[in-house]
Amino acid sequence: MRILGIETSCDETAASVVEDGRKILAHVLATSAEMHSKTGGIIPEVAAREQLRSILPVIKEALGEAKMEPREVDALAVTTGPGLIGSLLVGVETAKTLAYAWKKPIAPVNHLVAHIYANWLASDTKEPEFPTVALVVSGGHTDMVLMQNHRKMRWIGGTRDDAAGEAFDKTARVLGLGFPGGPAIAAEAAKFKPQNSKLKIKLPRPMLEEENFDFSFSGLKTAVLREVEKLKAMNQWTNETRAYMAHEIQEAITDVLVAKTLRAVAKLKPKSLLLAGGVAANQRLRQKFEEGIKNQELGVNLFVPVPKLCTDNASYIAAYAFYNFKPIPWQKISASPGLTIMGEE
Ligand code: KG4
Ligand code: ZN
Repeated sequence: MRILGIETSCDETAASVVEDGRKILAHVLATSAEMHSKTGGIIPEVAAREQLRSILPVIKEALGEAKMEPREVDALAVTTGPGLIGSLLVGVETAKTLAYAWKKPIAPVNHLVAHIYANWLASDTKEPEFPTVALVVSGGHTDMVLMQNHRKMRWIGGTRDDAAGEAFDKTARVLGLGFPGGPAIAAEAAKFKPQNSKLKIKLPRPMLEEENFDFSFSGLKTAVLREVEKLKAMNQWTNETRAYMAHEIQEAITDVLVAKTLRAVAKLKPKSLLLAGGVAANQRLRQKFEEGIKNQELGVNLFVPVPKLCTDNASYIAAYAFYNFKPIPWQKISASPGLTIMGEE
């Protein structure tokens, strides 16, 4: 079955064709991220206007890349939420129009659950075995779920305030780095050389010791702001201390994510642990998960999508729709900006 996936929840306009949930036949993406890097964050009206400009060329390019005519598409799948309403509407209304015109089934897709399915997108490797614990760490959400199978999912924890990606984005702004903040912090942290530093920078690890699977990242921005001001007052705010701060931000966020997720793994004993969402592209996070699983002898199979499949794209939208194929009449499909990983609030 060949599904055309469409994703427009934020600042990426994406279309993919995926065969049987695992094999990518086309993967096309246009992004307005560069425009947002100039403003230090996403302006919803700008993102929506760019969606409108890109959507038809992106879909056309995806069909071309897959060498397919519209009649060869078996079904459409489209992100209905969560996301920015203006951006979501562009994908949703375009997909509905195509489903009607091409007489094809269409399925609505929850963007957050779909992120997890990036882990199925490698037709030459073994697929994840259930039960699985999945950690979804994106720009707007941080959720941990236990999946018994494709249909049965239970929420086990998440952030109480800012998402992990948001913490990267906000602290990057404090350091004067670009947007999105995650890759910018990672690149800056790579410049840090521990032996050069006479100072000690230490940030808090919120909720690390608490016996639950929840996170809190909103205090990190204030802590970073305070530390930067302190360094500036001491005339110590230099390229070196900026790199040190970026390193410590990355360590603080990844320490908590890894410790709490592995605690869930130790308790629930899943066969696989799946990482998903933009923050899963972070190499330090992956490294710490690998080390933690080995050191604690957890015996769980870790799955981390390649970076380009961690961040927003339409391939995982199509993959999700294959494993959870529930087409509905196009008239019933609408954008739901406030959707959570478990559905409507
Ligand atoms: O999943 P995603 O592409 O979009 C949402 O659905 O939100 O996630 C975007 C988030 C941003 O906050 C971005 O800073 C973060 O993922 N991110 C990273 C990395 N690449 C993207 N965070 C840490 N390290 C990275 N390499
Ligand atoms: Zn996303």
